[in-house]
Amino acid sequence: MQLLLVEDNKTFAQTVIDSLLRIPGTHITRASSRRSALDALAVGFFDAIILDLSLPLEDNLLDDAPEHGQAVFHQAREVAPGTPIFILTGSDPDEFQLSLTRYGHQADVWGTGTTISTIVHYVKDRVDELLVRLKEMSLDVSATDAITIDTRGRALDLSVEQKRALKVFTRLRGGVSCVARKLTGGLSDARTIKLSVIDDNGHVKVLCVAKLGRKEHIRIENAAFDSHVELLRMGAATPRLNHLHMGLGRFAGIFYSLAEGYDDTFFDLVKNKPSEAPGVVEKLREALERWIGVGTVRQVKIRDIRRRLVDDDALGQVLSGTTIPRLAEIEDIEVRAFESCIHGDLHGGNVLVNHEGFPVLIDFGDVGHGYTCLDPVTLELSFAFHPDCQSNSLSKAFLDNLENWPNIEKFMQGTPYAATIEACRDWAHDHGGSDKAVLAAGFAYAVRQLKYGTVSKERALILINSIANQLLDQA
Ligand SMILES: Nc1ncnc2c1ncn2[C@@H]1O[C@H](COP(=O)(O)OP(=O)(O)O)[C@@H](O)[C@H]1O
Ligand SMILES: [Mg+2]
Repeated sequence: MQLLLVEDNKTFAQTVIDSLLRIPGTHITRASSRRSALDALAVGFFDAIILDLSLPLEDNLLDDAPEHGQAVFHQAREVAPGTPIFILTGSDPDEFQLSLTRYGHQADVWGTGTTISTIVHYVKDRVDELLVRLKEMSLDVSATDAITIDTRGRALDLSVEQKRALKVFTRLRGGVSCVARKLTGGLSDARTIKLSVIDDNGHVKVLCVAKLGRKEHIRIENAAFDSHVELLRMGAATPRLNHLHMGLGRFAGIFYSLAEGYDDTFFDLVKNKPSEAPGVVEKLREALERWIGVGTVRQVKIRDIRRRLVDDDALGQVLSGTTIPRLAEIEDIEVRAFESCIHGDLHGGNVLVNHEGFPVLIDFGDVGHGYTCLDPVTLELSFAFHPDCQSNSLSKAFLDNLENWPNIEKFMQGTPYAATIEACRDWAHDHGGSDKAVLAAGFAYAVRQLKYGTVSKERALILINSIANQLLDQA
């Protein structure tokens, strides 16, 4: 158990430390001021924080003030939500001190099956009560930590918080160990892990996919699941099992059922069984019917559609080193566009397909209100630009022909993927609102591609300029 003790009174701190060190497996980081506590919070992962609210600004100063303790309190809530904070007070806590409990939760931080209060007050004179509480807590923490993560000899490359998330999930689901294998991740903080939860008979109890990332990102994905993904017809998306976001520092985890038997991505299917792909596009469109069916048509500017994929703050960076002629003029063009909930990142790697040709959606971080034709246009254009396609012949067939994208007949000529392109484009036109909205979606998609290091800027600009010419001609 890792504890942060924030206490400036040396004698009192030493008494507490002496007692705590008698609890097996306990490590203590001591901070004696606001500054050193904030430094510790910035780098460490703690199972609980013991906090004296009256602190000096810096070590060895004597300007004790409750503001400094409060600053530590709020920073702890910010960087480590749900991590228990035990507040020490000299006498019975006053009204203000008690009011801090409103920031607390009832949470099952270690997957024990019971919830605890994450903010509790202890009077220094009765510090024994805190020590008893910490002793109990250490048993919960060490039982969770004792869960093993097997990797079958492969590197997993997870932070202590991400490992904790896997252990808490395993314990919550009645497992004693788990087998974890990395599916994606490397560059960013986010990792996608295939996880088997093993029970004490050695049986696989749960087979799932864990996404472990920054809590802000996982919260958005979880909220999108609550508001939108759950409304889709049964089987359209992978079911969500848990969202863990307490006591995991700046991380959180979202857990989905593994899409068993959905062994191909849509990219694999288009490449290996192109004749089956148009049927899958149809089924995908049906799977999103609950979103599309309640959309509305509105007059918007192309700028609005581009903003759904690249917001104004990011645009400068995305465009750096490139020029799109007459950009403002193009973005001022008004189009009739159909709006609904969209997936928001519907490339072929985010659609898994089973051997009967049924698709299932994954990856819900961008789900939300948007322009309906962005999804089918993204699906179609991902064959050209997505890194998973660049290594195969799929992307070549598309990349060499991008100047013809606005003219579907020319664009389809001579490719073995014509029927798939047509299925995506029909979907875009049926639910786009207008031809111009479909062009705008292609434009927005292509502008976003400029930000990726894997994408040839030259190709993205060919697409952008061909769409721009068409739009300006029609304006
Ligand atoms: N529920 C699932 N079942 C099977 N495989 C999955 C599932 N969720 C994700 N994957 C696999 O993990 C990869 C990454 O997951 P994804 O949710 O798309 O995260 P990212 O944001 O990294 O793209 C997917 O491309 C897919 O291969
Ligand atoms: Mg994905």
